[in-house]
Amino acid sequence: MVFRLDGHSFHRFSDVHDFEKPNDVRALQLMDHAARSVMEEYPDIVLAFGESDEYSFLLKRSTSLYNRREAKIVTTLTSYFTSSYVFNWSTYFRDKPLQYPPSFDGRIVPYPAEKHIRDYFAWRQADTHINNLYNTTFWALVQQGGQTTTEAHATLRGTFAKDKHEILFSRFKINYNQLDPRFRKGSVLVREEVAEQEPSSTKENLERSDVNAQVPSSLDSVATSEGSNATTVEDNGSPAEEQKRSGKKEKKVRKAKTKPPTRIVLLHCDIIKDDFWNERPSLLAE
Ligand code: GTP
Ligand code: MG
Repeated sequence: MVFRLDGHSFHRFSDVHDFEKPNDVRALQLMDHAARSVMEEYPDIVLAFGESDEYSFLLKRSTSLYNRREAKIVTTLTSYFTSSYVFNWSTYFRDKPLQYPPSFDGRIVPYPAEKHIRDYFAWRQADTHINNLYNTTFWALVQQGGQTTTEAHATLRGTFAKDKHEILFSRFKINYNQLDPRFRKGSVLVREEVAEQEPSSTKENLERSDVNAQVPSSLDSVATSEGSNATTVEDNGSPAEEQKRSGKKEKKVRKAKTKPPTRIVLLHCDIIKDDFWNERPSLLAE
């Protein structure tokens, strides 16, 4: 199951809140933060990919989350993401109070085979690339080239990727491939095993998870054990509670003890080619 959410009318929301064009790092980091919160709350999410105002989450194949009830999963996860987005807004937009409550739509897409999952994530990352190349060139023409938005649209009509690279380089000395990979590749959140003795926030951890001073310390490469929520979170209606009700808690607890601790890392890497998936066979296996 892939769960995807998307900001509702973020064209307007980004205008009202003065998001930088073409990419606002604060807005993207806030999206990453909210997505990480969702992954921390729901251990069955093994992978997430985000760009612009959207995020996709892959649930492990064997998940029994909310007995796989679609409406329950969609509404709860969308709601949790949205509240985390609002809850953490001021950390990223210090001088820009929220003008109105943002909302996100959510949906689940079931895919029958591994190939479809790979294709889905490849499609989203290809979309990131196409949009970013267009937007980067478009706003360079407007902000640095002095064109109106209508003129910039006209300049780009019918152009191919290589033409946009050429415009960026010859007119604005911008080497597209050297732009921040966050913008070119989107954001990938995955769980990574932590060696038992390893401190939870070594220098390497911080770099790999792209944590910077803006991000609250609780997010610094949080080392968690998959399934550990099942032993500690007792709130009614929580995933842990749900597992208890379905009589699976004891089994889960026993399983959690044998699983190595993991942390969630943020990457801006290629997920279209085989390497990413070959290095993480458990993503599609479980
Ligand atoms: P619906 O999703 O159909 O409700 O419409 P939407 O207005 O949210 O459009 P869509 O999801 O297709 O696209 C997201 C929009 O959010 C973009 O078109 C931008 O206008 C805006 N947006 C997202 N990220 C950024 C950003 O980093 N900077 C700026 N300036 N705008 C952004
Ligand atoms: Mg949207």
